[in-house]
Amino acid sequence: GLMAATAMHAAEPFLVAHRGASHDAPENTLPAFGLAWKQGADAIEGDFHLTRDGKIVCLHDYDTKRVSGTKKVVKDSTLAELQALDAGAWFKPEFKGTKLPTLREVAATVPAGKKFYVEVKCGPEIVPAMLEDLAASGLKDEQIVVISFQAPVIAEVKKVKPAYKACWLSSFAKESPLDPGTDEVLATLRKIKADGFSSKADERLDEGYLKAIRDSGFEYHCWTVDEVATARRFLDLGALSVTTNRPEFLRKGLSGV
Ligand code: G3P
Ligand code: CA
Repeated sequence: GLMAATAMHAAEPFLVAHRGASHDAPENTLPAFGLAWKQGADAIEGDFHLTRDGKIVCLHDYDTKRVSGTKKVVKDSTLAELQALDAGAWFKPEFKGTKLPTLREVAATVPAGKKFYVEVKCGPEIVPAMLEDLAASGLKDEQIVVISFQAPVIAEVKKVKPAYKACWLSSFAKESPLDPGTDEVLATLRKIKADGFSSKADERLDEGYLKAIRDSGFEYHCWTVDEVATARRFLDLGALSVTTNRPEFLRKGLSGV
């Protein structure tokens, strides 16, 4: 029943590894995703862009400067050009030689029963190739969650592939914890047919804000939380998942071990 489900949720929070286990390995690389599964993550989250030659690469920024030392703008580069770069050495010498992975390579790490949060950093032009790669991965529809700050991306995914869960992401204005306010958030979620809302775990957010979203039938998720007390607070406020750079650390902390 509902009580049991609630109790179970409280005991076993759903933890999403942000860019993989990115506290311990270079973000958005196969070593980081592999480590996330070893650390007991329930899901991995990765950032994706379309390359100039229509392939999908995993990288947070719009160019490769921060993680490789060489600046290549993703949308103006081919996958081969991007994969020639070293995206691991910046983090620690032992990761030297690590490449930027493709969507297909990341999807191939996802074990049965685990989930894959696919964050789209570019626009809806990525959607056809993304759906093709995800279909080819053999993952089940229920293992995929598409997330994006770009509302048109969520709208397109829900139109073409409604079986995939899709959540809209938003940060909050520095000046106000209520910008965007719940009316604006709810209007956007309805318009794009999103399944849920995912926000920065902003300490200014209150119970009423998240309750308004949940009471309107939308899921609520949060990111990026590496402190146990913050994770506990957002789980108590009804977050269905917590995205973290440190899945193992947070799991232990939340279970009181
Ligand atoms: O899970 C959502 C979160 O990853 C969004 O922020 O900048 O880390 O992609 P960012
Ligand atoms: Ca992300």
